[in-house]
Amino acid sequence: KDSKKDFLLKIHEESLELFHHILLQTTAGEKALAYLLKRGLTQETIETFGIGFAPYERTLLQQYLVGKDYSKELLSETGLFVEKENGDLLDRFSNRIVFPIRNQQGKVVGFSGRLFEASDFETGPKYLNSPETYLFNKRNVLFNFDKARPAVRREKEVILFEGFMDVIAAWQVGIQNGVASMGTSLTNEQIHMLGRITDQVLVAYDGDDAGIEAAKRAADLLIDQTDFDLAILSFPEGMDPDDFIKEKGAPAFKELISHGRDTLFSFKMNYYRRDMNLKNESERLGYIEKILTEMLTITSAVEREMYMKQLAAEFDISIDSLNEQFQQRFYKQQ
Ligand code: CTP
Ligand code: MN
Ligand code: MN
Ligand code: MN
Ligand code: MN
Repeated sequence: KDSKKDFLLKIHEESLELFHHILLQTTAGEKALAYLLKRGLTQETIETFGIGFAPYERTLLQQYLVGKDYSKELLSETGLFVEKENGDLLDRFSNRIVFPIRNQQGKVVGFSGRLFEASDFETGPKYLNSPETYLFNKRNVLFNFDKARPAVRREKEVILFEGFMDVIAAWQVGIQNGVASMGTSLTNEQIHMLGRITDQVLVAYDGDDAGIEAAKRAADLLIDQTDFDLAILSFPEGMDPDDFIKEKGAPAFKELISHGRDTLFSFKMNYYRRDMNLKNESERLGYIEKILTEMLTITSAVEREMYMKQLAAEFDISIDSLNEQFQQRFYKQQ
């Protein structure tokens, strides 16, 4: 006999099939499909990720599933509906392109739905996720973890993106070791999941303030939790990986991944100067102090000397003074 979990998984699978069918085979899905194709997604990518469309009509999924004899109790546990005051169920995802979210076994446990017409954005958030349910716990989910696993093992590295559209865009150009959290900051559970399949993480968050702050937070968490080898990709101001692929092309993206990565330290050097005016003397001194302090975390003498030289050249200070200052901090720390 099927357990509650089996039933809930089955309902998600059947919902995905309905949404996917509507997107690809019906006139109700035409606009959504045109939007995805215009964004550069191929039919094959849409199939691979099982992308679908939930139309405006808010009793469609409910009627479809009731027609398959699922009980109302079970349906309300899926998170796919919102309950009206009179107890009736309405489809949660309405007028949204829906992306299935899968667990580690590749089973659909939730959805994220995206509005895609400018005139609709006042009706709700750009992305709407399934709520926390018996099946879906955001803390434990990484988008694409199931499909990325073989590529992560092969590349010995996972790429951590901020948005699942970045994961999808990268996948389409052959970069298949990408995952993303579902719009929350990285959790211990997710770090643990990553740690089981690799010890190397490439953080590739959006090139805007929110993305850079989130990348800094993710990097600090990853370093704290386990001894991952970390590297960071930086994107031009305001661009995310998906934008980058579209604007600069797949070869440029692959080049960035293989030869354009920053070490954690040089990412931090850029990070700390973002809101500083280095033309100002005291801010310049503050910055140098900050970097020297940060340098205490570098164990390799060669690496330290490399950054020391960069610092010396940029601010026209002798290596000797920088070294002296560094030694002072070093002994203070001991
Ligand atoms: N997110 C969310 N709710 C929102 C906006 C974002 O949950 N209103 C989450 C989503 O999981 C999204 C991630 O935060 O994947 C990153 O957000 P964003 O950079 O805005 O998403 P993109 O992948 O750039 O989406 P798009 O290109 O479709 O605008
Ligand atoms: Mn290693
Ligand atoms: Mn963003
Ligand atoms: Mn983005
Ligand atoms: Mn984007």
